[in-house]
Amino acid sequence: MDKNEEKQREEEREQVVSPWEVSSSGKIDYDKLIDKFGCQRLDQSLVDRVQRLTGRPPHVFLRRGVFFAHRDLNDILDAYEKGEKFYLYTGRGPSSEALHLGHLVPFMFTNRYLQDAFKVPLVIQLTDDEKCMWKNLSVEESQRLARENAKDIIACGFDVTKTFIFSDFDYVGGAFYKNMVKVAKCVTYNKVVGIFGFTGEDHIGKVSFPPVQAVPSFPSSFPHLFSGKDHLRCLIPCAIDQDPYFRMTRDVAPRIGYHKPALIESSFFPALQGETGKMSASDPNSAIYVTDSAKAIKNKINKYAFSGGQESVELHRKLGANLEVDIPVKYLSFFLEDDAELEHIKKEYGAGGMLTGEVKQRLAKVLTELVERHQVARAAVTDEMVDAFMAVRPLPNMFD
Ligand code: TRP
Repeated sequence: MDKNEEKQREEEREQVVSPWEVSSSGKIDYDKLIDKFGCQRLDQSLVDRVQRLTGRPPHVFLRRGVFFAHRDLNDILDAYEKGEKFYLYTGRGPSSEALHLGHLVPFMFTNRYLQDAFKVPLVIQLTDDEKCMWKNLSVEESQRLARENAKDIIACGFDVTKTFIFSDFDYVGGAFYKNMVKVAKCVTYNKVVGIFGFTGEDHIGKVSFPPVQAVPSFPSSFPHLFSGKDHLRCLIPCAIDQDPYFRMTRDVAPRIGYHKPALIESSFFPALQGETGKMSASDPNSAIYVTDSAKAIKNKINKYAFSGGQESVELHRKLGANLEVDIPVKYLSFFLEDDAELEHIKKEYGAGGMLTGEVKQRLAKVLTELVERHQVARAAVTDEMVDAFMAVRPLPNMFD
């Protein structure tokens, strides 16, 4: 097969990316996704601009292209440059008790970089209603999971004086609900079917949900935080599978008198078995969980992490590893902060000087440190702290 044929074959292969399903028979084609969704690539000049404006060196996830796409990031930076602040909005669908590393990506980025660098407040939506409807969980169980997940989110280090976490079941009502109704009136049934692919067999809860995820993009949904600031802009860090919700939101926003939210979008953290989509929550061996022990981490990496190394040591020394498909290197590119060391590993491993076993050992160390740090922080989060983050209250110094 020549190169062109190969490319064509690849393009014909199905790639499904929606808020509920991420699957592909090969590597996810992120360029194709950008085209299909109509977002923009986050290029180096924009990364440089963020650095210039905030005076902060770009976070690993930014400089290594984990966050690779955006919508209107330039506009929000233009406004910021003129002294206009904004707020951040992100969320989590509480579908399981334990989070895996992929779940932490948007929270780590929001916490260690965006919120700190721009000095802006953050709202975090826990869509317990969404997961109750999609995952067939009881109302009580999804609410319990929301609180458990809130503890993991808080453990990432968020500042209670700048962060409001809310569960849909508890918070929806009042001004938030009024915005939901305004959004709902602007979206036809045909439109949601086009965006989300609902069918006549789907229950109507699914059809009615998108406005719930849309309206945290509008400041008036949070009168205790943004009263009198109806024109405050919103930036949403999220994985790119959430884009459909915000395409809908951006379409509606100007019609009901709000700014379109801006987005900064990440790729997916790949499964241990290889880069063919998001990790599957139903296969515990496909991911490293924040609850895993050092031993479990080591075992999973050694046993399951897809290697780009060669069949035999002799062949490996001769040909080197295929870094394109190698999961240990991919994981290190997310979590090994030292650029020089990462380059060194790539060079040596790619040339055959370093063996898969050595790279895996380094990765196990990096991830164990990360997970153990998280576990210590998580254990220190009390129910009172969760209540404090979730209390409907003003945040007086949220822009400082
Ligand atoms: N639907 C998301 C999920 O299932 C949760 C979510 C709600 C979210 N609002 C968001 C994610 C805003 C990113 C940004 O995980």
